[in-house]
Amino acid sequence: MSVAVIQGASGSLGLALARHILQNTGLTVYALTHRPDSKVSDITDRILEGISDDAGKERLTVVDDVDIRNEKGLSKAAKLVEQREGADRIRLIACMAGVLHPEKSLSAIDLSKSIDQFQINTLGHLLTYKHFVPLIPNKRKFECLSTDWKDYQGEDPAQGLISSDSSLCWSMSARVGSISDNNRGGWYSYRASKAATNQIIRTLDHELINKNSSAVAVGYHPGTVITSFTKPVIGNDAVADPSKGKFEIDQAIEKMVGVMGQIKRDESKKWEGKCWDWKGERVEW
Ligand SMILES: NC(=O)c1ccc[n+]([C@@H]2O[C@H](COP(=O)([O-])OP(=O)(O)OC[C@H]3O[C@@H](n4cnc5c(N)ncnc54)[C@H](OP(=O)(O)O)[C@@H]3O)[C@@H](O)[C@H]2O)c1
Repeated sequence: MSVAVIQGASGSLGLALARHILQNTGLTVYALTHRPDSKVSDITDRILEGISDDAGKERLTVVDDVDIRNEKGLSKAAKLVEQREGADRIRLIACMAGVLHPEKSLSAIDLSKSIDQFQINTLGHLLTYKHFVPLIPNKRKFECLSTDWKDYQGEDPAQGLISSDSSLCWSMSARVGSISDNNRGGWYSYRASKAATNQIIRTLDHELINKNSSAVAVGYHPGTVITSFTKPVIGNDAVADPSKGKFEIDQAIEKMVGVMGQIKRDESKKWEGKCWDWKGERVEW
């Protein structure tokens, strides 16, 4: 089957994306979490909330102990996907993991927290691509993969989540990672880690082109989403206001999949190797 790999799947947006994919597509989902085995059934239940059909449940595997600060768990998870699904089955790698330690000034910099942000927000995404991109079909194998679709009434099991002629490497970036948009300062490490993630996406996209991969690489800014991630900054009483780019989780997922479905490699080179926001507008570097 065609596979979606979601890293950071125990988090607010990762979990909601996994659920959305199970509810709205025929993709098989590997949901990676750095939490231990004892938390797997809890995460599984939370992803499956509201999903009644057995087919949806059968398509989900939660893989525990995948701490993206090291390669052991990522390598093990990639081998599991390859053994169970085959070598060229991945259509989507969604890197959702991230941490924020918002420093207001130089005096607040704590080296270990800065390193943590780079390891998780930036290098963790890079290592995820290192282990899973080899399982994305190249363009020739993608043609063979599409014969599988006969099992799905001849249609792409991604069902418009991603373009039917491509695969996707998707990293959660952030507008604050844009250097040209930095008019306020603050958040040194988080900003820098996301700017570096953008550079990784750009570089990855070149490699995907060179290797004739079916995948396109992009970064994404979801707006401000009311999650446990943002509450320490925007407060517990924050209220969604989509007109100002402030969303509840489900609203954010709706915007996100709307952009995902538009990404493709075409002659205009419009989408590839760039960072996009929830309006489908480019976030400049
Ligand atoms: N929320 C927003 O407004 C917003 C805005 C711009 C960008 N973003 C980006 O969107 C992404 C998701 O945000 P969110 O709001 O869903 O945050 P979240 O709820 O805090 O989720 C973050 C995820 O990262 C995982 N993670 C942390 N350390 C990890 C590690 N060492 N190994 C593997 N996974 C690890 C967390 O796992 P545990 O839960 O197990 O700790 C969790 O699944 C982040 O990259 C964030 O930077 C969010």
